[in-house]
Amino acid sequence: METASADIGKLLQELTLDEKIRLVHGASDPSGAATGYLPGVERLGIPELRLADGPLGVRSHGEPATAFPASIALAATFDPELAQRQGAAMGREARERNIDALLGPGVNLIRVPHCGRNFEYYSEDPMLTSAFAASMVEGIQSTDVIATPKHYVANNQETQRASIDVDVSEAALRECYLPGFKAAVDAGSGSVMTGYNGVNGTPMSEHRRLLLDVLKGEWGFDGYVVSDWFGTKSTVGSANGGLDLEMPGIDREEMWEAFGIEESDDGVFGEDEDLSEGMPDTGRSGLFAEPLAEAVESGDVPESRLDDMVERVLRQMSRIGLLGGGRSSHQADEAAHRTLAKRIAARGTVLLKNEDVLPLSDDADVAVIGPGIHEAKTGGGGSSEIEALNAVSAVDGIRGRADGDVSDARGVPEIDQVSFFGGGEDERGSDVGPEPSIEAAVDAASAADVSVVVVQDAATEAADRDSLQLPGDQDELVEAVADASARTVVVVQSSGPVELPWRDDVDAVLESWYPGQSDGDALATVLFGDADPGGRLPVTFAAESEYPTDGAAAFPGRDGTVEYDEGYFVGYRHFDANDAEAAYPFGHGLSYGTFAYRSVDVVDDRRVQVTLENTAERAGREVIQVYASPAESTGAKRPPRELAGFESVHVPAGETVTATVDLDDLAFRGYDDGWTELEGPFELAVGRSAEDVRLSTEL
Ligand code: GLC
Repeated sequence: METASADIGKLLQELTLDEKIRLVHGASDPSGAATGYLPGVERLGIPELRLADGPLGVRSHGEPATAFPASIALAATFDPELAQRQGAAMGREARERNIDALLGPGVNLIRVPHCGRNFEYYSEDPMLTSAFAASMVEGIQSTDVIATPKHYVANNQETQRASIDVDVSEAALRECYLPGFKAAVDAGSGSVMTGYNGVNGTPMSEHRRLLLDVLKGEWGFDGYVVSDWFGTKSTVGSANGGLDLEMPGIDREEMWEAFGIEESDDGVFGEDEDLSEGMPDTGRSGLFAEPLAEAVESGDVPESRLDDMVERVLRQMSRIGLLGGGRSSHQADEAAHRTLAKRIAARGTVLLKNEDVLPLSDDADVAVIGPGIHEAKTGGGGSSEIEALNAVSAVDGIRGRADGDVSDARGVPEIDQVSFFGGGEDERGSDVGPEPSIEAAVDAASAADVSVVVVQDAATEAADRDSLQLPGDQDELVEAVADASARTVVVVQSSGPVELPWRDDVDAVLESWYPGQSDGDALATVLFGDADPGGRLPVTFAAESEYPTDGAAAFPGRDGTVEYDEGYFVGYRHFDANDAEAAYPFGHGLSYGTFAYRSVDVVDDRRVQVTLENTAERAGREVIQVYASPAESTGAKRPPRELAGFESVHVPAGETVTATVDLDDLAFRGYDDGWTELEGPFELAVGRSAEDVRLSTEL
């Protein structure tokens, strides 16, 4: 039940200046669990507010939680209903851990294939990103927890993230970088987090036009804008520019002390020299404490603006039942969440190639090979890290499912994974047998019916990958195993696009991203055919040089500025418009079924019906994709086609289904000094990827 705004108005009248200030900057959580904390004002019945990360699960220090698959794996399902369910599950676990606001979802567009946080984001396509942002927010907020879509806006790289300025056109902002946030706001998000970066010369924490005119003005956002941690660039500029809440409000030492983490712990936030370029100034905090009180007293910040900041925070506290009126009940059924995490991991697994080797027969003798096979790949480095409630490694998952012999060999040393919270170095490898060697892996491969080689990258917040190649000698390991093995399946556990130089030398390739705690469980269900690999690529896979961001000014930028000169030609839009070569295109993914597209019928200007048949003996899941191409435009060059709609459907063996696909306005509008309807008639391409078109019709 929401406290009427009159009551909030009454509270505002009773709050002293000092108490208002306490409600707009963070303090350290006495319980040591939350990453962001407001102490509240007990005198007036305003309770504490606790904020915790993150997009992959709830990080409440000292308390494990369900480690869901990476956001990019969730997007690969092309099924936003799963995002709604994951959001609700994370919301329930947040409530169980006395957390009121979840610092997710990450909705930045995947512009740069190297970005260290791609695993926390959804896609290179703004419409797919928007669908998942909205569903995730709905799920989180359905449990009376405040969602925090981040990092507003155009925070698409980690290199110099706290100082870089993004030079981007309004058209690209409106058509590519803002839609995910608008969808989250339209879905009722109670907060939005600003990025560390600047846009067109102004730091996001003080960006009047994008915060006041667009977010709060045009979109009518009535929640609070919270800074990224140590991302508040000024007191007066930020307060008057539209920032409402400064986090963490305390300096790093106080923050780590609250977590009980010794600065000496290896890999601690900012200690690692590789991260130095991507770290904010963690010594600067409290800009919305005394300095803001002084700015209000001097008139530099009108008291009415401070009241608006406080009102926005109180309104969200009221909305989730914190100001009296009780909160919805919640029950975190962790067994159900474990099943959901496994289902999402399997549905997000993309079968890139399969030359009659998958699914495996139950009695196959399997060699499981790779540096990370003894530990579930629950995520990358950074604020999204959480301790998994339970985790199943690739070896354990396959051994638990197979009837044949299962051997294991790491082949090469573990891939170092940076951790923000210490303990990042790898003790795990030490207790799993002799020093790894490619020779031992080759021996295991030679003796088995099939080899399953699991390879990984190791992305982290605060740094971008320095190449799209797999780290360490993993490519060499794959080639050696492929030479020796009767049949070779490679499972890629990556943060985003990686180069796969051996893809023609192996029989099957699965991309499972960072699959979360159910790693081995989900992998086994897909390998042995209990589940169809339902995923499709939410990003284009290609050689590094083929992306539009190949080139210093475009990434990582020069002299503190990164040029988004490609405009809205991001991802497949660029590959289509420039005939660039994709190894595997956006939307690509195979199934254990095979699909014949029979017909497409236009229902109305935003709906089509597609009929397809599964001609295989096995049930399968198909993701029907509809791309819209406007009539030849006389104006600005447009992307040849844009994803307009998609639908994931299960099709039993030999059956025919008809699915309705809703089409999103975004694919029919362009931004050129205001939104305009693109010129029709539109050609609608219906198929199973940006390149594999099966039917077409006209709208
Ligand atoms: C980090 C991240 C942000 C996270 C916050 C709190 O620096 O950029 O995503 O939610 O700080 O950990």
